[in-house]
Parts: sequence; C-alpha cells; structure tokens
Amino acid sequence: MATLLQPPRDLLARPMSDLRISVTDRCNFRCTFCMPADRTYHFVPKPEILSFEEVTRLARLFIELGVEKIRLTGGEPLLRSELEHLIASLAGLDGLKDLALTTNAYLLPKKAQALRDAGLQRVTVSLHSLDPEIFGRLSGLGIELERVLDGIRAAARAGLEPVKLNVVVMQDVNDHEVVDLARFGRDHGCVVRFIEYMDVGTVNAWDPTKVVSAEEIVDRIDGVFPVEPCDKVHPGDVARRYRYRDGGGEIGVIPSVTQPFCGDCSRIRLSAEGKLYTCLFAATGYDIRSELRNGASDDALREILHTLWGGRSDRYSEERTAALQSGRFVPAEKVEMFRIGG
Ligand code: GTP
Ligand code: 5AD
Ligand code: SF4
Ligand code: SF4
Repeated sequence: MATLLQPPRDLLARPMSDLRISVTDRCNFRCTFCMPADRTYHFVPKPEILSFEEVTRLARLFIELGVEKIRLTGGEPLLRSELEHLIASLAGLDGLKDLALTTNAYLLPKKAQALRDAGLQRVTVSLHSLDPEIFGRLSGLGIELERVLDGIRAAARAGLEPVKLNVVVMQDVNDHEVVDLARFGRDHGCVVRFIEYMDVGTVNAWDPTKVVSAEEIVDRIDGVFPVEPCDKVHPGDVARRYRYRDGGGEIGVIPSVTQPFCGDCSRIRLSAEGKLYTCLFAATGYDIRSELRNGASDDALREILHTLWGGRSDRYSEERTAALQSGRFVPAEKVEMFRIGG
C-alpha cells in the first residue's frame, strides 16, 4: 500500500532528497586524511552488516518519502562482494533518478563493466595527486597511481559518466597540483571536484591551517584556464560549479569549511551496520537495523524515517566555521568518515 505520509521537511525546512548508503566500513587504502595507517580499526562483523534485501527495502521507503538520488559509499564500496546485485535491485526501484558510487578506483578495472551492466549510472573517483610518490603516501599504503588511472579509464570505457574526480586539497601536501589536476580533468573529460580538507571523524588530526580555500583554488585555476560560475543542478548539491570559458568542461569546488552549505543540505546517510545519520559529522546514528530485524512493517518504518528527518536540526559545518572564526573551536566526538562515506 502506498504511503500517505508527505515527504518530510526537517526543522530548518530542508527536504530529504539524497540518500548515501555505506555498504562496508572496510577499505583497501589508508588515506592519511580519513583512515590513517598507524592505527588499528575494528570493523563491523558480517552478521551485523545490512543485507542487500534490507538495504533495498529501506531505499524503497526513502524513495517513497522523497529521495531521488542514491550514492553508494564505504569505506571502499567495491570491497563488498557481489555489489552489482545490490545495484541491480536499487536500479529497479521506481522513482529513483540518480544512482552513483564513490570509489578509490582500485577495483574498477575489474568491475566497471559489471557495475554499468547492473544499472549504475556514474562514478566519482578519489584522486588526490598525479605524482606517484605523493599519491602513494596519501593512500597510506604506497598504492600505485597507475592502477587508479586504469580504473578511471575503465569507468569511462564502461560509460559510467560523467566520471567525477574528488580531490581533497591540503596546504603543502598537494595544493601545488591543483592546476595539473584541472588539466587532467580537461584532457580526460572528467569533472574534477576540489574539496576543502575537513575535520571529519576524530582520527585524522585535522589542522585548520592545512585548509586551502575554494576561492583560492578557483583563482589558481582561473589564472591558467579561465572559468566562469554556473548554476547548481539541484539546490542541495555540495559543489559550486565553474565552466571553462573555452568550452573545455567544468570543475566543482566543495567549500565545506569556508562557505558551509548546511542551509540546503538534503542528505541522509545509512551506515553498513544499519545506523542512520542526519549529518556527516554526527556523533550517533539511529539504529534502524533493530527495527528491521524486529519485524517492523513498512508503515512503521516510514513513520520512523519521517519522524527522524522531521526532528533534524543539524548544521555542523556552519557551527564549526563560526567557532573557528571566533576562536572557540573545540574538536567534537563524531562518527568516522569511513563508516558513513563522504
Ligand atoms: P554529485 O551528485 O555528483 O554532485 O555528488 P554529491 O553531491 O553526491 O557529492 P559527493 O559525494 O561527490 O561529495 C563530494 C565530497 O563532498 C564528499 O566526499 C565529502 O567530502 C563532501 N561532502 C559531501 N556531502 C557533504 C555534506 O553533506 N556535508 C559536508 N560537509 N561535506 C560533504
Ligand atoms: N576532508 C574532505 N574530504 C574527505 N574525504 C575523505 N576524507 C576527507 C577529509 N578529511 C573524501 C574523499 C573521498 C570521499 C570518500 O571522502 O574525497 O573521495
Ligand atoms: Fe581513502 Fe576513501 Fe578509503 Fe577513506 S574510504 S581511506 S578516503 S579510499
Ligand atoms: Fe549537511 Fe551536516 Fe554537511 Fe552541514 S555539515 S552540509 S548539515 S552533512
């Protein structure tokens, strides 16, 4: 029976239109800014991970409540075995307009075509440097850059387009490569998205002096390849878009630290163990797995999702930036990024 509930609005009148599903908290990289290699991590045991059936059921209910866009994340989502089966189930849901995946690309050479055949529309690849030595260091495990570049080529060949590239920009680490990365995007038909280094999780020893502002990034690129701003596709999108004036494509900047975008945030996140987070920086999540496994009906689940979103007031990035400006910033307890994706 169809829901009688209207799509919810949260306490700041924001709609819920974007669901991000983390399918595993494991990763085959140890990026310094996310999951530093000098620690041991305890991963969610298999029986506690949501099954594909559970994920698909929740996704269907979210779509009935207004979600139009789903992004699969991790950890590294391609480590989840038979992920294409989940993709096929999600791709078959009525009302879903966009199905994307964020990956480090290591497994893309092997999997890109199967993902596309299952119904995945596009991928975003994390690529933080074009210098093999810096790339290997940032990956935490000396991963070979060439393997990731192969993955990007495989995604384009399979038609998982537009391929977007996420670059976390850090002062004195990779900021000197911003123009080279932009050029790579132009040459390969990829949309490069430069992300301000954020204080995600608690283990990455975030240092605000390492943040390079989106404004500075755009200025540096504009100096070599002139750009002009263009409109967001959806109000809730995180990236500010710029197009090259010579028609060479576009870039995006994600200014979460210097120009937070909480006012339009329409994203809800589901972790692999079945917790729902209404903010990337939340400390706790709502345990929807218990409801699922205790036999909740679709009506009961819809009511829970509706109420959860309806009570939401998160605006962490705006609060963090205000605290930094007034010198009152104190690092808070929050979920690790690799548990709920980017
Ligand atoms: P498109 O639909 O392709 O525009 O992508 P998207 O809006 O799903 O963005 P994507 O997942 O590619 O996000 C890129 C990066 O932006 C993430 O890896 C995070 O670092 C950051 N980001 C995404 N969502 C949020 C958010 O809600 N809050 C904050 N502060 N940062 C976010
Ligand atoms: N700041 C900004 N973005 C980050 N990501 C991971 N850690 C951080 C951070 N500290 C992004 C990466 C990756 C996605 C999964 O999350 O760009 O593409
Ligand atoms: Fe790096 Fe992504 Fe893995 Fe984090 S989840 S360690 S950003 S590849
Ligand atoms: Fe949304 Fe939280 Fe990010 Fe703000 S900090 S944009 S509320 S996820």
